[in-house]
Amino acid sequence: MIKNIALLLMATTFILLSFTTKDKTAINYSANSDSLRIELGRILFYDPQFSQDGQISCASCHSPYQAFAHTDHAVSHGVFDSLGTRNAPGLFNLHTRNIFMRDGAIHRLDLQALAPLHSPIEMGGNIDSALKKINRSKDYRTISYQAWGDSTMSIQTFLQSIATFENSLQSFNSYWDKVQKGKQQFNAMQKAGEKHFFRYCAQCHTPPSFQNELFYCVWDTLNGDTDLGRYIVTQNPKDRHAFMTASLRNLSFTYPYSHNGSIDHLYQCMDKHQLPQEYRSPVISSVLDDREITELVGFLLTLNDTSFIQEKKYQFPKQSFLIKRKS
Ligand code: HEC
Ligand code: HEC
Repeated sequence: MIKNIALLLMATTFILLSFTTKDKTAINYSANSDSLRIELGRILFYDPQFSQDGQISCASCHSPYQAFAHTDHAVSHGVFDSLGTRNAPGLFNLHTRNIFMRDGAIHRLDLQALAPLHSPIEMGGNIDSALKKINRSKDYRTISYQAWGDSTMSIQTFLQSIATFENSLQSFNSYWDKVQKGKQQFNAMQKAGEKHFFRYCAQCHTPPSFQNELFYCVWDTLNGDTDLGRYIVTQNPKDRHAFMTASLRNLSFTYPYSHNGSIDHLYQCMDKHQLPQEYRSPVISSVLDDREITELVGFLLTLNDTSFIQEKKYQFPKQSFLIKRKS
């Protein structure tokens, strides 16, 4: 009898222990939750099912091979092939930024995704139906639980996941970065270009992000540009046609240039980009001669980060359930 009770006690303890252990494993999502949140954000970023026609994901306009810009498209193409008015910028080093969009209209990255999701000319979707779809999916429920400790995704965890993935997109491995770390050296042409850059460009395109989150009008606006830029946000006449300084990192991957993608080549930027009043607003190619422009462009090309666009962990999540859903 005593032996039986002892056995029973042992068995109960064992069962209790195994439950506790199992429970611990189940709620121990935080150990690896950062990488799981990034992974969940990545899956959402590449998932087209939230758009109105089921065809457009964030990645349709932000391609990893183009440093997450929309190469070859002047303005973005959204659901049912509708045309936007602005060129999709590259997405990298967003963790260093305080304001977003070309007119700086958005102050929080973890709210930004609502804009394209709801825009009738981008994804034409809405957050409630997106969440309904996600929360019906067994695969999403599993990863949501692992990442956030809750199998039902909320607006907050949906947006946070995407923002966490976006914040993981870091591009600091260009030739320029290697020179800063003393691992490489500039050749004579790049050195000369660097000098022009610090004289004429760095006050706005400030390293290491190569922009400064301020707004200027740098293109000739008499060409019929109807986009009022920063003015839409501030209603300040000084801000008419002013746009946030664009980063000059990864320029070889993010063409066409300018907020409306109207400039195809870097050399054309030099002929059209005006410099501030202190230089009496001439275009770049009127303060630098042909040789100096070549040197400047040589320097700008050192800001390309090929490892960034080749990084597998930023690309379509091949191992995820999105593939299975499509077939
Ligand atoms: C139809 C094309 C399109 C789709 C789809 C799209 N975007 Fe964009 N994205 C753009 C354009 C165009 C801009 C610039 C808009 C502006 O300045 O007003 C932009 C801007 C951004 C920015 C601000 C970047 C910066 O440097 O300020 C972020 C972040 C972003 N998009 C993330 C996303 C996410 C996340 C999704 C999916 C939920 C998404 N985008 C879907 C075209 C698109
Ligand atoms: C007064 C601030 C200012 C100065 C100085 C300046 N830029 Fe800019 N630059 C901008 C702004 C603002 C934009 C974005 C304009 C837009 O989106 O329409 C921009 C855009 C660009 C672009 C296009 C990037 C893209 O992805 O669309 C290039 C290339 C460029 N600048 C190069 C230069 C070079 C080279 C110099 C120096 C010779 C220079 N800039 C000096 C403010 C400046």
